[in-house]
Amino acid sequence: MDTRQQRGLCQSIAGDVKLGEDVKIYNFVNLYGCEIGSRTKIGAFVEIQKGAKIGTDCKISSHTFICEGVIVEDQVFIGHQVVFINDRYPRAANGAGQLQTEADWTVESTLVKRGASIGSGSVILCSVTIGENAIVGAGSVVTKNVPANAIVAGNPARIMRYCEASPVHEQTAQEVPEPMIKLS
Ligand SMILES: CC(C)(COP(=O)(O)OP(=O)(O)OC[C@H]1O[C@@H](n2cnc3c(N)ncnc32)[C@H](O)[C@@H]1OP(=O)(O)O)[C@@H](O)C(=O)NCCC(=O)NCCS
Repeated sequence: MDTRQQRGLCQSIAGDVKLGEDVKIYNFVNLYGCEIGSRTKIGAFVEIQKGAKIGTDCKISSHTFICEGVIVEDQVFIGHQVVFINDRYPRAANGAGQLQTEADWTVESTLVKRGASIGSGSVILCSVTIGENAIVGAGSVVTKNVPANAIVAGNPARIMRYCEASPVHEQTAQEVPEPMIKLS
């Protein structure tokens, strides 16, 4: 079935959203200006902003917020109520006391690499890369890059251990993010 035919009255999906094949979207979802890859599932009460890109075969669980500047590669799992951030020093008004516009701040991007999983209730600060096949524990606050295959948890998130080798392709030197601080 064409995804656009599945839409109920309780979805807001702007005309500029690029949807792949067989995308499944639940009710109370708000999408605008974003790209969603084929077969990806988007749970209830999810918002995805303009400029965000979600890959193929991803699961985005209910109540999650994905903002402008976030790139999610293929086969990524995002739990419930995960929040991404793209403005490190947010302000409502500019120096003149007027509501800020896009000219008043700069988007900081975030990359979630193929096969990664983000646990429910996590907050992902801006300008971080979550490596391939990494797992972010529930309730984590991720402030730094997460290496491929790492399991991280806590606030701020720290490496607990590494999981089994990833079935996805080997990383090149350029793809490996800067390591985060290890638990002592
Ligand atoms: C992070 C995670 C993968 C670790 O799993 P695990 O390796 O089996 O870890 P364990 O349960 O053996 O716990 C090991 C230690 O880490 C702690 N821990 C586990 N998960 C944690 C988390 N999310 N945050 C902080 N500490 C955590 C445990 O309390 C335990 O501490 P201890 O050694 O002092 O007793 C898992 O706990 C998790 O959070 N998964 C995400 C689940 C999720 O959000 N799913 C979404 C869909 S429902």
